[in-house]
Amino acid sequence: MIKKIIGGLVVGGILFGVTSALDFPQIFQLMFVAYAVLGTLVFSILDAPSVAPFSGLKAVIGLLAFYLVLSVAYITGASLWPQYDPEDEKGKINRILEPKRKLSEQGKTEELLARAKGLEEQAKSIAERLKNLSKDLPDASGGAAPAAGGAPAAGIPTDAKDLEARAFAIWQDQECYNCHKLRGEGGKKRGPELDNIGSYMAAADITAKILDPKSFMAEGFEKEYEKKKMPDKYKEVMDDKDVDILAAWLSGLKNTSVPTPKPIKKK
Ligand code: HEC
Repeated sequence: MIKKIIGGLVVGGILFGVTSALDFPQIFQLMFVAYAVLGTLVFSILDAPSVAPFSGLKAVIGLLAFYLVLSVAYITGASLWPQYDPEDEKGKINRILEPKRKLSEQGKTEELLARAKGLEEQAKSIAERLKNLSKDLPDASGGAAPAAGGAPAAGIPTDAKDLEARAFAIWQDQECYNCHKLRGEGGKKRGPELDNIGSYMAAADITAKILDPKSFMAEGFEKEYEKKKMPDKYKEVMDDKDVDILAAWLSGLKNTSVPTPKPIKKK
C-alpha cells in the first residue's frame, strides 16, 4: 500500500515536471497530477480485501449504490474544474477585439478623408492648369517661340512664391538634387552647388544649359564636363514650360555665401 502511494507520488511528480518543462498551461499540469492520484487510488482499491459475493436484490442495490457514488464523485470532481461557457468566451474575445475593430474603422474613415483631400487638390491643380492654358492660348496662336529678350515667357508665375513652389516641384521631379546641392540638401558631390547660380547665369543661359549641357561648363568641373556627367536628356523628357520655370527660379538664386562655380560659355 505504502509502495503504491510512493509510486503514485513519483509518477505525479514526473508528470508535473514534464508538463511544466513543455510549458503546458497550469490547469493541464494539475489535471495530469490528478490522473496520477486517481491511478494510485485505483491500484489501492485492487488491494482491498475481496467482498463476499452477493446476488439478487442486494446485488442490484449494490450496483446502483456504486453508480451513485461514482456519479456524485464524477460530477463534483468535474464541477471543481474551471467551467467554459461558449457565450462567456465569445464575450471575452469580443472585448479584446472591439477596440481594434474600432481603430481599423477609424483608420478607414481617415484614409477616405485623406483621399478626398487628395482628389480636391488634384482638381484644383487641374483647374489652375486650365486657367494657365487659356492664358497661353493667344500667345500660342501669335507665334511658336517666345520673343527673345522680351517680357517674361508665358506661363511663368509672376508671384515669387508661386514660381518657387512650381519650380521646386520640377527640381524634385527631375531629380536635379541627385547631383546638385541646393539649400544644403541633395547632391552627392557630382555637380556644383547651385545656391548662387543667379549671380552668374540669366534664365536664358540656364535654359540653354538644361537643354544642352555642352553649352556651359562649370569652372573646376572640367573632368565632369568632359565625361558628360550632366544628363543630356532634359530636352526630351522635360516640358518646355517647365524648363523655363525652373530656369527663371534658379536665375533668382543669389546666395553669395555659397561657392557656386562660375559657368564658362562653351557654345
Ligand atoms: C547626373 C548628375 C546631374 C544631374 C542629374 C543634373 N546635373 Fe547639372 N551639372 C552636373 C555636373 C557634373 C555639372 C558640372 C559640369 C558641367 O557644367 O557640365 C553640372 C552643371 C550644371 C549647371 C552649371 C553650374 C555652374 O556653376 O556653372 C547648371 C545650371 C545645372 N547643372 C543645372 C541642372 C539642373 C537644373 C538639373 C535638373 C534639371 C541638373 N543640373 C541635373 C551634373 C548633373
